[in-house]
Amino acid sequence: MPPLFPASASTMASRVDALYFFLLAVSAFFSLLIAGLIVFYAVKYRRRSPDGIGANIHGGLALELTWTIVPFLITMVIFVWGASVFFAMSRPPDETLNIYVVGKQWMWKFQHLDGQREINELHVPVGRAVKLIMTSEDVIHDVFVPAFRVKADVIPGRYTSIWFQPTVPGRYHLFCAEYCGTRHSGMIGEVVVMEPTAYQTWLSGGTAEGSLASTGAKLFQDLACNTCHRPDAQGRGPVLEGLFGKTQMLQSGETIVVDEAYVRESILNPGAKITAGFQPIMPAFQGLVTEEQLLALIEYVKSLTAQPQEPVARPVGGGPAAGEATPAVK
Ligand code: CUA
Repeated sequence: MPPLFPASASTMASRVDALYFFLLAVSAFFSLLIAGLIVFYAVKYRRRSPDGIGANIHGGLALELTWTIVPFLITMVIFVWGASVFFAMSRPPDETLNIYVVGKQWMWKFQHLDGQREINELHVPVGRAVKLIMTSEDVIHDVFVPAFRVKADVIPGRYTSIWFQPTVPGRYHLFCAEYCGTRHSGMIGEVVVMEPTAYQTWLSGGTAEGSLASTGAKLFQDLACNTCHRPDAQGRGPVLEGLFGKTQMLQSGETIVVDEAYVRESILNPGAKITAGFQPIMPAFQGLVTEEQLLALIEYVKSLTAQPQEPVARPVGGGPAAGEATPAVK
């Protein structure tokens, strides 16, 4: 049996396959029906004498209603079914394991919140909903893991995300599914789905760099962000504590939800959306911070909002980093 189908290794796989096989069955049924009827009628109503003339037929209400209503019902089934799978794919559960992805010509970089970084290999635990938050350093790429039946564009200048819940431990292909230049075909990798205990062991190995948020905290100080964004509301910039996820009033009178995209924009191009009550004095960091540094800063800002896990110790003032043994990894 040739491997016509990729392995089925996520909660979404069987749902996508079921819909796919339904579409295949409907298509096959009607292809055979129509082709069969064409041949059958061509033979049955063939011209039997050189001067034969066909019967004059004027409509057939029952027949016309049938071939209108039946396809309508079938397409509505496809629509509702397809929409339910689509919504399930685009709405991650509340509790997800978040992993950042940066695509660049021609490799995949994965950044775990605990600090581990990987290239072209992604380790995840089985049975847990994983959300990838993705961006690109250059052109449009596309993450595609056939065994999970998930696929999404990775776009420069914005964050996109997909989620999946692996069901079977193993190694699965990861492809770039958007033509992105000469070595597009080489932009491949592997997702390694591990048993939870093996995953914990893997996680605890080689975490010298500290968590992503602590890397961000260090960077926050190196870039002198902390001189204006102070926790005591005395700074020249908005207080960042408790900010992530909140709705913020802008100078323009509009409001915005503080999410990854907004934090990113506010770092790269602070003048775009000024918080009400503040002066547009922050310098733009466009070109000065990499995508990975942005992710660290965003994760740091997130950590300042009360969450189940402990917030990262915040460096205040211009002194040395507050005991965070974070080597300068840029
Ligand atoms: Cu990246 Cu194709």
